[in-house]
Amino acid sequence: MAEDTLPAVYRGTVLHFLRDPGADDDPDAWELFEDGALAVGADGRVRWAGDWSALPEQHRGEVVDHRGKLIVPGFVDTHIHYSQYDMIASFGARLEDWLQEYVFPTERKFADPDYADRIAGLFLDTLLTCGTTTASVYPTVHPTSVDAFFAQARQRGMRMTSGKVLMDKQPDAPDFLSDAGVPQTEEQTRQLIARWHRNDRLTYAITPRFALSSSDEQLAMASRLLHEFPDVTLQTHAAESRPETASVLARFTDARSYLDVYDQAGLLGPRSTLGHCVHIDDQDRSRLATTGAAIAFCPTSNLFLGSGLFDLAAARDAGVRVGLGTDCGAGTSYSMLRTLNEAYKVVMLKESTKPPHRRTTLSALRGFYLATLGGAEALHLDNHIGNFRPGKEADFIVLDWTATPTLAHRTALARTFQERLFAQMILGDDRSIAATYLMGRRVRTPN
Ligand code: GUN
Ligand code: ZN
Repeated sequence: MAEDTLPAVYRGTVLHFLRDPGADDDPDAWELFEDGALAVGADGRVRWAGDWSALPEQHRGEVVDHRGKLIVPGFVDTHIHYSQYDMIASFGARLEDWLQEYVFPTERKFADPDYADRIAGLFLDTLLTCGTTTASVYPTVHPTSVDAFFAQARQRGMRMTSGKVLMDKQPDAPDFLSDAGVPQTEEQTRQLIARWHRNDRLTYAITPRFALSSSDEQLAMASRLLHEFPDVTLQTHAAESRPETASVLARFTDARSYLDVYDQAGLLGPRSTLGHCVHIDDQDRSRLATTGAAIAFCPTSNLFLGSGLFDLAAARDAGVRVGLGTDCGAGTSYSMLRTLNEAYKVVMLKESTKPPHRRTTLSALRGFYLATLGGAEALHLDNHIGNFRPGKEADFIVLDWTATPTLAHRTALARTFQERLFAQMILGDDRSIAATYLMGRRVRTPN
């Protein structure tokens, strides 16, 4: 039985998505092969996915047996901070206080490259244990934090996106975490892009922290770089909490809304991913859809900081791309399954405040789409990862239906595949991840 030899064929139940199945589980949007096969070439790319009985002769090879388990693409976490690994689960504060009291003192430690290196390694191993193979990651303002992160990700062969956090405006950028002048910051960013962008599986994301922590000149610089480098992406926070949104409108008096600040700065486009977008309106959604900018929906974080309930149905109905983010350390779990559990509840609560004719829920199929292909689309990485179309990089995970006694009991009573998948989405966590593969090679994790 092959484990690390490629080419190989992985046998098990195979599920992947071709597009968003929507609120009604569009049957043409997903493919399920109950006794399925995933054939991976010597180059670590998908060659074929389908029914085991239909596996073409030319794709036969060493077989890795995962029968009785579920094979899905690796999870994509569209918004997370590796720099907050030490202070996840810090008590009792709303966004502004939480940043000042817990986040900024922790991020200060990343001036030390050895510390950054150690935390980057711990963080990435945690993601792999949870079945997350790609993430859009915030380091800190220190260039060394970016070097440490990318070096550790490259060592593991992971597809990751990240970029130096830009912040230069006090008090939302404290003086001990503040960029020097724009020319120096721009030069640092250019050097990091040259060093890391498209270095193996790594891509660079220009990362202004949020509107309040950047000067107008720094936002303009971010926009300049975004337009100069045609496939570099942009990540930032937007409209996360009400007080934050009010502060943004108080500073940017010409702006119609928080998102309009980014729009006016030229930061909304098809390569932009905005974390949160809880406090936006239909006009904002329309601009996001028109410009092609994506949202990272971060349910555990929005609940933990009391930020509010993201309107998933309104965003998707408006045609906005949405991925799922854990946003640790404001988020409370590195597991995308746990994150889906909370996403389901956020959608239920949000929908309960609308007229009944608009009522939708988050189905397990749509949830798994968001956690895989939806995330890849939100990060502009769907030409590389996100499903099992031939030629895609074979990052995938194997889920155990019997990972815990409760899950095993519920799974045994499920009448349909969707019921089983929903039980996994609600009861699953890192214990469900039986194996994680990067480019067809199994990663050694504790589970
Ligand atoms: N807004 C600005 N910075 C941050 C951060 O680090 N976490 C979250 N959740 N929101 C932010
Ligand atoms: Zn965040």
